[in-house]
Amino acid sequence: MINPIIAANWKMHKTIPEAVKFAKQLKKEFPEPGDVDIVVAPPFTALRPVMEVLKDSPIHISAQNMHWEEKGAYTGEISTAMLVDAGCEFVIIGHSERRTLFGETDGMLNRKIRAALKSGLKPIFCIGETLEDRESGTAFEVIQKQIKEGLNNITSDDIKQIAFAYEPVWAIGTGKTATPLQAQEAHRFIRETIATDLGYAHASKTVIIYGGSVNPENTGSLMDQPDINGALVGGAGLDFESFAGIIKISKR
Ligand code: PGA
Repeated sequence: MINPIIAANWKMHKTIPEAVKFAKQLKKEFPEPGDVDIVVAPPFTALRPVMEVLKDSPIHISAQNMHWEEKGAYTGEISTAMLVDAGCEFVIIGHSERRTLFGETDGMLNRKIRAALKSGLKPIFCIGETLEDRESGTAFEVIQKQIKEGLNNITSDDIKQIAFAYEPVWAIGTGKTATPLQAQEAHRFIRETIATDLGYAHASKTVIIYGGSVNPENTGSLMDQPDINGALVGGAGLDFESFAGIIKISKR
């Protein structure tokens, strides 16, 4: 049985007081560990203050990005040790905004995943096709390449620490969700691709979450799909009521 992950990616939103207020509400509403792993990914400045609020709670903290080098002259970047120090357990790697707006390649993401694993951070590795890929019928090819190159030279034991997030680029922040069946089809394909490295017994335990315009209304039908193990939530994760609603629906 897989514990689903419901993660809020706050992107470049929330000041420290806003993030702390949200974290306090979340801790109050979900004080006990349950059958859903709740994760919040605040911006870097709010990581430590959010950790101070959530440290005695079952809610996990994720960073939204990291650099692969341990330290050095990389102005503006942040290392895995700094993230661990600030209380992170997870790190989002390869979000489509990082790939498209900041030029992150599969090779760079592979270095990030390896560095994250080395430091004990659990990667939430994002993959997904663009609208162009989907319309030209190459969506699965693109996803397969992202997985193969992202996981290059990573051992099977390490792959078991990774959660995958399928985020079709055309569904992010657009209000267009993949239909539950489209998402299920992609999640099944991802699980099968992972199984070629891990074997099916392990791949069947890999957490694969869906992202792209998830909200309280569509969560139920997405979570009903056998290969969807949670959600990476952007816009709807900024509002406490809607994020709490998504978590409650996922607990069914
Ligand atoms: P969205 O973002 O829920 O606003 O579509 C999802 C994401 O970018 O992870």
